[in-house]
Amino acid sequence: MLHRPRRNRKAAPIRKMVQETHLTVENLIYPLFLTEGENLRVPIRSMPGIVRFSPDEALREIETCLALGLQVFAPFPHIADNLKDKFASESWREDNLYVRAIRLIKERFPEAVLVTDVAMDPYSSDGHDGLVENGEILNDATLEILAKMAIAQAQAGADILGPSDMMDGRVRFIREALDKQGFTSVSIMSYTVKYASAFYGPFRDALDSAPRAGDKKTYQMNPANAREALLEATLDASEGADFLMVKPALAYLDIIRLLKDNFHLPIAAYNVSGEYAMLKAAAANGWINGEQAMYECLLSIRRAGATAILTYFAKEFAQLVNDQQNHS
Ligand code: PBG
Repeated sequence: MLHRPRRNRKAAPIRKMVQETHLTVENLIYPLFLTEGENLRVPIRSMPGIVRFSPDEALREIETCLALGLQVFAPFPHIADNLKDKFASESWREDNLYVRAIRLIKERFPEAVLVTDVAMDPYSSDGHDGLVENGEILNDATLEILAKMAIAQAQAGADILGPSDMMDGRVRFIREALDKQGFTSVSIMSYTVKYASAFYGPFRDALDSAPRAGDKKTYQMNPANAREALLEATLDASEGADFLMVKPALAYLDIIRLLKDNFHLPIAAYNVSGEYAMLKAAAANGWINGEQAMYECLLSIRRAGATAILTYFAKEFAQLVNDQQNHS
């Protein structure tokens, strides 16, 4: 045999030398759920280890993460039912929970980078990402709401806006609204290819944001489609997106690779709540080694081509890396 690939696997230093993909804390974005109140860490049943933070507790959590080298955060608001309405008007109200928390975090930790969520569903009494009229999700009327929300977040100090709703034309609409107000250096991480997925279940528990009627299939993509991902990415890139995101991540590694090979923008991937919950459940049952499975999954998303990974494992991974450094 001339070729024995095992020779390059015979010792740890050699294996490391030929390792093609690396995963570091710098690649990770940590989603944080926010809720009104003080001193609160409310556990989310379907997401072991993940909680809703009151703003003061979010500051504590961010301080801990910064010390671990984790610097990018994606906050999402849990909004009380009595503040939700058809127009999601709470979403652009000055001094709403989200805007206050963004301001608080950026004042206290200017070095923390915030990727904020631009979508109606946390504030919508219909639980949809768009304005609902006679059971239909209106596209262009939703854009106006998204732009108001985007401006409120930019004013509060958001660094990167994440439109997560899949309305047509939103990247351009938001980009123009931002530029008109002078926010030319606020970035857009577009949820470019977002599939109508069963893996968002635990997130909707966390935010209490499930659709009250129907599903999201008229705006989120059919999991069967890959060519359509190229269409969405072409549009977002031409509308001024700074990052292209694929969501979910693990069941869509081929899509991450497709975008990576066809576009020059950095690719982000969202390792979503259901993907997190599955691993946690199997690990809790002793069916898999949780730490190794986490590392393997995150590495696979990097290998597929994602630069940035939104993941509920971010802090756990950062802690693991820090523990290993302290022991060596
Ligand atoms: C909605 C939104 C969703 C997630 C982030 N933003 C869910 C949905 O489309 O219903 C899901 C994230 C996750 O599951 O971790 N704007």
